[in-house]
Amino acid sequence: MKNAVTVSQDFKKPHLEVSGDSRLSGELRVSGAKNSALVLMTASLLTKSPIRVDNIPQLTDIDGMANILLEMGVKLNRSTNSIEIQADEIHHVELPYDLVHGLRASFFCIGPLLARLGKAKIPLPGGCRIGARPVSEHIRGLKALGAYVTVEHGVVTASIPGPTKKLKGSHLVLDCPSVGATETVLMAAVLAQGRSTIENAAQEPEVQDLANMLNKMGARISGAGGPKITIEGVEELHGCNYKVIPDRIEAGTFLLAAAITRSIVRVSPVIPDHLRAVLQKLRDCGCKIEIENDSIKIIPGEIIGIDITTQPFPGFPTDLQAPFMALLSTAKGTSIITEKIYENRMQHVGEMQRMGASIKVQGNTAVIEGVPKLSAAPVSGGDLRSSAAMVLASLSAKGVSKVEGLHHLDRGYSALEKKLNKAGANIIRNN
Ligand code: EPZ
Repeated sequence: MKNAVTVSQDFKKPHLEVSGDSRLSGELRVSGAKNSALVLMTASLLTKSPIRVDNIPQLTDIDGMANILLEMGVKLNRSTNSIEIQADEIHHVELPYDLVHGLRASFFCIGPLLARLGKAKIPLPGGCRIGARPVSEHIRGLKALGAYVTVEHGVVTASIPGPTKKLKGSHLVLDCPSVGATETVLMAAVLAQGRSTIENAAQEPEVQDLANMLNKMGARISGAGGPKITIEGVEELHGCNYKVIPDRIEAGTFLLAAAITRSIVRVSPVIPDHLRAVLQKLRDCGCKIEIENDSIKIIPGEIIGIDITTQPFPGFPTDLQAPFMALLSTAKGTSIITEKIYENRMQHVGEMQRMGASIKVQGNTAVIEGVPKLSAAPVSGGDLRSSAAMVLASLSAKGVSKVEGLHHLDRGYSALEKKLNKAGANIIRNN
């Protein structure tokens, strides 16, 4: 028997109380893409002119990035879903560790600061629970453009040798299609002298969104969204107004919430092309998908086991691996999920097993034997996507689950429980 203090401690941790056996209906609204908004905010450092970005999601990661920009002396105005940024005065180029730690996207400031001011000093973002998450490709790319880069005491210092303080266009083949490395090199190359190419580039929609905004600011980028990107360097960039694309991972999470509760739901706005691999897997496991312009209607049938391997875009996205596993743990039959992007992204399996899921893990491969019903339990997510997976599993489980790890969840989902409750769920947030 836990003593009173321990029990009261448990109940103090912020958590969601999620009622199981939920049925959803109506529409689930998708916010702007976190992994686009964050990098678009760093791109504002490339010009002295003001930029305005709309459809910004309300997330703690966005707050974190705003604080980092303010700390550098950037002018910044936020309203509910918009942000105006003017980086005409950047007081210093060294980001403080306490602001950067835990927000990997802060490392994306290195490219723009180097290109704009000729120097940058950014703490290494470090690993997280899903993997080591190195930035060696980001550094290799900056060096290819002529930067001098050192890594000492956990800080990456980049500068441009020589009197011009300008990077030189170069041709780079990435060792792996890293999203962050592609975005870092892209932002550094737009102000370089001459032409650059990035081969084996990441093709994620967020990379394309960044290139589209940079082109609106006067950059000359072609091929973004494909494996080879070409950048003609320009003298300077000007301001622009831009709207962030819808968050394909939030949209996929909502589709999976509908599937796991066997509910017919409409999800919008979405760009269906950003979800091709996910929609295919939803069809393969027994869901009917109807696409109408920028909305997707999902009609779940009997859910059967399927196999999934995560890949760089346009393959199946690693960020939906945990939420999809929640669905497949309630499918009829066996599923095999292989995680190819991160070396340690199976931590949600232990929490799923506490809810009665039958899953065996060998390295980065999980074999899931579907069970008829999960049972409610106190669970917590180790990263933002496994936290979302716990919420999905709890929606369908028998009983009321307690889901902890809200600090992870709130990084990537804006008011998840409010959106799900509007569609018929019964989730109480206890802060
Ligand atoms: C972005 O991270 C996203 N984050 C991640 O979303 C997403 O999972 C990932 O892309 C893959 O799609 C943001 O955009 C802020 P990577 P990023 O560099 O850029 C290896 C979420 O839940 N790699 O493409 O850090 C790396 O170790 C987050 O929203 C190297 O080996 O991803 C990883 O295994 C999680 N060397 C793989 O590539 C390098 O130099 C993918 O990393 C760089 C990366």
